[in-house]
Formats: sequence, structure tokens, C-alpha cells
Amino acid sequence: MPTAALDAEAREILRANDLGGYTVPTHGLYPYQWNWDSALVALGQRHVDEARAWREIETLLTGQWDDGMVPHIVFHQVDPGYFPGPQEWGVEHIPPTSGITQPPVAATTVRRLYDSARAVDREAAARRLFPKLLAWHRWFHDKRDRDGGGLIGIVHPWESGRDNSPDWDAALAAVDIADVGDLRRRDITHVEADQRPLEDDYLRYTALVAVGRDCGWDPALLRASSPFWMLCPGFNAILLRAHRDLAELAWALGETSAATEIARWIAAMEAGFERLWDDEAHVYRCHDALTDEPVDGLGSATFLPLYAGAASADQAAQLAERLSDWLDQVRYGVPSCDPADPRFEPKRYWRGPVWLVVNRMIAEGLADYGFDELAARIRGDSATLVETGGFYESFDPTTGNGVGGDRFSWTAAMWLDWASPSALN
Ligand code: DGY
Repeated sequence: MPTAALDAEAREILRANDLGGYTVPTHGLYPYQWNWDSALVALGQRHVDEARAWREIETLLTGQWDDGMVPHIVFHQVDPGYFPGPQEWGVEHIPPTSGITQPPVAATTVRRLYDSARAVDREAAARRLFPKLLAWHRWFHDKRDRDGGGLIGIVHPWESGRDNSPDWDAALAAVDIADVGDLRRRDITHVEADQRPLEDDYLRYTALVAVGRDCGWDPALLRASSPFWMLCPGFNAILLRAHRDLAELAWALGETSAATEIARWIAAMEAGFERLWDDEAHVYRCHDALTDEPVDGLGSATFLPLYAGAASADQAAQLAERLSDWLDQVRYGVPSCDPADPRFEPKRYWRGPVWLVVNRMIAEGLADYGFDELAARIRGDSATLVETGGFYESFDPTTGNGVGGDRFSWTAAMWLDWASPSALN
């Protein structure tokens, strides 16, 4: 299909998934507002309606808690087609929300909206959002830096955004599922089961929701009793990058004391990243903070410290080499799991498929370190996947076939903002 037709289809998907102030990732499978989905979708919306893009972030922040946390789902209206819904989370908030967060992309988006603003009062729009984003970023360091080492822990695989990555297998195996009872999962009524997490994963996801609910989602109680506390290079890289973007906004808005505070977080995180570097394998690994052990196996998050500027030149070169090795083993990059790992499954959610949102972050990181050819390869693969597979949630790296939900908002957004030959940047 010609580029102009794909651009038009992407715009049409964003309009069709707009429920009025917020965008669902796709109808059916994900009927609410998801945190990092919305932040990434706003980057596409700016090519359709600039003011609407800002509104996506404003609506997401209606879910923000008093302590600053921005939840991973905002349940703007009840939809029985999704599990676990507001009742299972047991959060008292209007609008209802989940009890956990998600990769904090929003500050990066707001900085990009600010820099590219044409028809909106960017000063006023950024001033409205800035204190809320600052409070969220502060929340991470206040509540989730368990040992003061600078890195932020996640208490549920859903917080990573990479739900069923093999990165979590060992830690999830230790989660007690005795009291979970019957699952009422709805995802496999929308999408083939072989493209979704296993039943056993869902039992553990649900058990972790129950742990949080039993703690009343109190961060201090969760810190004391969560059976899952992982340091993920992907999550931390996205936050570190967002800190850098928030600091730029702070300077632009004259918020100098905030800029100083953010600079402290940045320094702490940069130092913390060294802990995730495996000096023998030359990769970043997730780290289980409860056992103090690095995680066996690799997901695509290993490459994201490039996007945060957290790697040295040597580390970047080693990551680029590893990435090339992965790309030699598949038709389209970047697979979400090491293709040489026996747990690699090319169609199963975050155990193999290619995700355009991650591809973009990896490609940007590679370009920042001067690996332009590799970055271009990833952008080219991303374009080909949409051109041949459509606007799916993700793509099988061995065939290019779309997997998961169709007419997916963030794939449409990444096309318009990045992968399309007509994209501006
Ligand atoms: C899901 O329901 O699959 C989501 O990824 C959880 O956020």
C-alpha cells in the first residue's frame, strides 16, 4: 500500500480509537486508557490534531493519585470485556484506576509536544502538566528506590510493560498462587491464546494484584511485603530519559529548583545503572532486588539504556554487536526476547514479537551513539512490518505477520511519528 494510504489509515485508527479525551489501545482487548500507550499515542496524535495530543496526557493525569503515582490503567467507564477490572484492583479514586504504574514516557512526550508546538499555547499547556509530572517522577525516588541505589523497582510485570518476558519467569515462580481461585480472563476471548501469556502467568499476575490490594496499595506496606521487586533496565532507561526531558522543560519554564532536584535523580540513576551491567556477557540484565541476583536470559530491554544515554561508548559498542547478532537470527528486528533463548516464542506477546514502540526507542538510542546504520535497519524493518502486516499490536519476527490486537493505536502513532517514510523526524 502506498505511504499516503497508510498514513491516512493510521490517522483513521487514531480517530476510531478516540473515546473522547483518551484513546484506547485497541477496541475489545484493551477498552480503557493505558499509561504508556497514551503517552506514545499522543506523539502520533500531534500529526492529526495538536491540541488533542496534549489532551491525551491531561486525561491520563486525571488518574494521578495524591501521592504522585500515575496508574497504569485509568478506568474511565466500566467494560466487562477486561480482566482485572476496577473491582479486582480495589482502588478508591475518581476516576477508578489500577494500583500500579507503567513506563513513564509522558514527560518525554510533553517535551516533544512542547518543542514541536505550532498552534497551541505551549507555555500554558506545559505549565499545567509540569507539576504533575514532577510529582510522579519524585514518587519513583521516594517510594520505589528500595535500597537508595538510584534505580527504581517494579512490583508487577505489568509495570514493565513487557508482561510475560522471560525476564520475570524465575521471580514469578516464587509467587504464591494458592489463594487465587478461578480466573476470569477475557484477553483470550479477543486474541488467540497462543499470542497471549499462559494461564500460569495470569495466576501469578492476579496473585500480585491481591498482594497490593491487601496492602491498600500503600507504597510502604508494598515495599515490605511485595514478593516481586525487580530492577529492569528498560523501565529505568525510560525514566532516566524522561528525567532528562523533564529537566529540559524545567529550564524552559524557569523552574530552576525543580531542575536541580531532577539533576540529582539523574546522577543517582546513572550511577545505579552500573549494577545492571553484566561484565562477562556485555549486556544489561534485569536484577531481582529480593534475591540480589541478576536475571538469567535477555529481553529487548537490554538495549534501552542506549535510549537513556546510560551506557559508556564501550558498552554501547558491545550492545550494538549483540543486537546485530540477534538480527542475524530473525527476519525482522527487534525481537522482544533473545532468539537463541529456548524460551523464545515468535508469536507470544513479549516472548518474541517485535514492538514498534521499543524499536523506536532502541533506534533513537543507537543513533545517539552513532550507530546510524543499525538504527536505519530497525526503522526500515518497522516500516516494512506495517507495510506488509498492517497496524497490529506487534509482529512475528520470523514471518512479519501481525500478532495480538489489530488496528492498534500505538502502532499507528509510531508509524505517523517515526516509521513512515513521510514522518517528519
Ligand atoms: C494486559 O492486560 O494484557 C495488560 O498488558 C496489563 O496491563
